[in-house]
Amino acid sequence: MIGTGVIGAGWAALFLAQGLQVTAFDPSPGAEQRLRAAVDDAWPALERLGLAEGASRDRLQFAADCPAAVADAQFVQESGPERSELKQALLAELDGATPPGVVIASSSSGMLPSQLQDMVDGHPERLLVGHPFHPSHLIPLVEVVPGRKSTPAHVDAALDFYAGVGKRAILVRHEVPGHVTNRLQAALWREAYSLVERGVATVADIDAAISNGPGLRWALLGPLVNQHLSGGTGGLAHTLEHLGPPAQVWMDDLGTPRLTPDLAAMLVAGVDDELATVDQPHMVAERDELLVQLLEHKRQRPLVP
Ligand SMILES: NC(=O)c1ccc[n+]([C@@H]2O[C@H](COP(=O)([O-])OP(=O)(O)OC[C@H]3O[C@@H](n4cnc5c(N)ncnc54)[C@H](O)[C@@H]3O)[C@@H](O)[C@H]2O)c1
Repeated sequence: MIGTGVIGAGWAALFLAQGLQVTAFDPSPGAEQRLRAAVDDAWPALERLGLAEGASRDRLQFAADCPAAVADAQFVQESGPERSELKQALLAELDGATPPGVVIASSSSGMLPSQLQDMVDGHPERLLVGHPFHPSHLIPLVEVVPGRKSTPAHVDAALDFYAGVGKRAILVRHEVPGHVTNRLQAALWREAYSLVERGVATVADIDAAISNGPGLRWALLGPLVNQHLSGGTGGLAHTLEHLGPPAQVWMDDLGTPRLTPDLAAMLVAGVDDELATVDQPHMVAERDELLVQLLEHKRQRPLVP
């Protein structure tokens, strides 16, 4: 575990809960103490979701430097800051110190794997993106994104590793900015921003529309299977036949907002209004509790993937 901020600490907690030996490094003063506290915070939820045999927080070691952390690694997850020059130095150091053949997965949200591979001279073929979602100890999804120099064996090793620690990995077959999931989120944010800008709905009503509407179904089945089910016995073919033409009109009418300072201020004011009477720490605690309950229930229902 290289870099133990928000995302790295979540990964470390998950790996420990899955019974792995974790060696971490982060140069920031007090990082070890913060990491151990974050793992302690995450542990009760991970216990509820089920610890692997032999899982223990005692299996977390904090290394004195980056090469020492990865010298005996069987898998490296890099979660350092999202700054190009810093990633470059970090990945070059990691590549030099990690045994050949061992996958180095970067959590990077914004950088493409080929861009990261170009930052190292030694073994770029084992470098790929393994992109998680916050909170990374709970949200199962990880996007595996190979770069131009990736080899199938390393991609398979990453997919196997993530499956082995209980993640739901998807393979992104062509690198594109934002990988897959952030693009899907961006598509929704884009129209939400546009609707606010045009005065069609308030921020609060847009949030309510998703969290009380399709969002409830999307946590259980994806948008396309949901669309299939809304076609009744005719399935997706029927949905597309009778709702496809109007949906094409809606798609053609979607906005293309620019995130200007004025629009950003409008959105911030909208969220402030929405949360004006809400106890935010309490709301977050409730959300996290419900998230763990949902994950517990989903595990018992394998037909809901
Ligand atoms: N925050 C998110 O929601 C999110 C989601 C998915 C992926 N990511 C990605 O995860 C990565 C980490 O993001 P974050 O939100 O945890 O950031 P963060 O700022 O919380 O953590 C980054 C950590 O890297 C450490 N660091 C700095 N220099 C380092 C070095 N040379 N070696 C090792 N560690 C070093 C910092 O001390 C810090 O603890 C980024 O690439 C980001 O794109 C973030």
